[in-house]
Amino acid sequence: MLDRLFKKKDITTILEEASRSNGGLKRNLTASNLVALGIGAIVGAGIFVITGQAAAEYAGPGLTISFLISATGCILAGLCYSEFAAMIPVSGSVYSYSYATMGELLAWFIGWTLILEYLFACSSVAVGWSGYMMSLFDGWGISLSPRISQSTFYYADGSWGLTGSFFNFPAVFIVAVVGAFLMGGIKQSASINNIIVVIKVCVILLFIGFGFSYIDTANWVPYIPENTGEYGHYGWSGILRGAGIVFFAFLGFDALSTAAQETRNPQKDMPKGILISLLICALLYVAVTATLTGIVNYKELSVPAPIALAIDRAGEGLAWLSPLIKIGAIAGLSSVILVMTLGQSRIYFAISKDGLLPRTLSKVNKKHGVPQNATILASFLTALIAGLFPLQVLNELVSIGTLLAFTIVCISVVILRKTQPDLKRPFRTPFSPFLPLLGAAICIVQMVFLPGAAWIRLLGWSVFGFFIYFLYGIRHSHLR
Ligand code: ALA
Repeated sequence: MLDRLFKKKDITTILEEASRSNGGLKRNLTASNLVALGIGAIVGAGIFVITGQAAAEYAGPGLTISFLISATGCILAGLCYSEFAAMIPVSGSVYSYSYATMGELLAWFIGWTLILEYLFACSSVAVGWSGYMMSLFDGWGISLSPRISQSTFYYADGSWGLTGSFFNFPAVFIVAVVGAFLMGGIKQSASINNIIVVIKVCVILLFIGFGFSYIDTANWVPYIPENTGEYGHYGWSGILRGAGIVFFAFLGFDALSTAAQETRNPQKDMPKGILISLLICALLYVAVTATLTGIVNYKELSVPAPIALAIDRAGEGLAWLSPLIKIGAIAGLSSVILVMTLGQSRIYFAISKDGLLPRTLSKVNKKHGVPQNATILASFLTALIAGLFPLQVLNELVSIGTLLAFTIVCISVVILRKTQPDLKRPFRTPFSPFLPLLGAAICIVQMVFLPGAAWIRLLGWSVFGFFIYFLYGIRHSHLR
């Protein structure tokens, strides 16, 4: 029984299956599409919303150091992702990699964790989108009743309650629009994403370029505010906690690997897409944080739209930038939803191809080359969760699930180098096993510092996943 649960899928079989008509998917993506998709998925609520709170509550101006620490962890994980994505360019990402390295049960568990990441990240960004949209509407004198624009439930001081709102309809709206675009095929989705990426990167560059001259360097002193005596509140422990919080801002590069089967030359382009998009985003984030904390004192930054606040503080000279920032943020959040929903649907597709989820989820629409039912399911679940739950609960779950997935990718690289040293590796993570293990260690440290509630929810999600596996997957697995 046990050896059946841990039965591994042969990598050659995975590659053969994928090459047979490519599962119906179309290879349309180029390296520059991938870099744009990466930036599309990465730059979102993290920089537009979370930066301000993390500077105000944990790290002060030293949040730039938190970003660098978090970026290092992500780049190490990104190197490991690149090795796998070039070697096994199929749509299942870590799920498929771990099917080959750790066997079916663990692969299912990882697939389930990836669903958690994409589903909840996407839902939380949709909730953020709804908030920014409402504030833009407010600015125009239009207001939507909170009964139809806020989550149904709230969570405070460890207990749940009803907000009195029916559902967060704007969040549902954006997920439905994005789902409709995704149904039109990967080429159409990539083109829309390209336009959005240009808008959001331009807006961020405008902020850095014009905001620069409004920086008052007195706001950077002290650069690392003294710890208050409480762990994680300023000082070096605050910088570390800040790194765990802004980790969210880098998520999304991993979703790129789910598009490997739709990439023209995955062996070369996947590593480029993942690493270049991560590096560009790391640079943008550090520059935005330095500008932000230079214009406004960090203590005042705990607001939902910190960049908009900085522009207001800069005075009349920058007032023209204010609506552009809101539009940039709204566009930015939309592309995160786009790429994360894409990632989620491709995971359903890959798992269903192996028989662990119903077959209907791997049906591909012939005309557009899109896994239609998987896309509908991904959009439906995202809309449901975004409508019901508040932002903070969703965020915590995302971070812990993703850190777990990154840890497993890093460790899998080391295992596979030992067990199958002769496999063709078009991209190799340098200094293995040192760098992959360092990547795994950085992820584990960040997990350890997350609140206990996030661990309990991860446990609940995992138990639910194993329940589904033993009820359905184990009996329908094609590998058996
Ligand atoms: N990195 C994505 C964001 O910041 C999830 O919105």
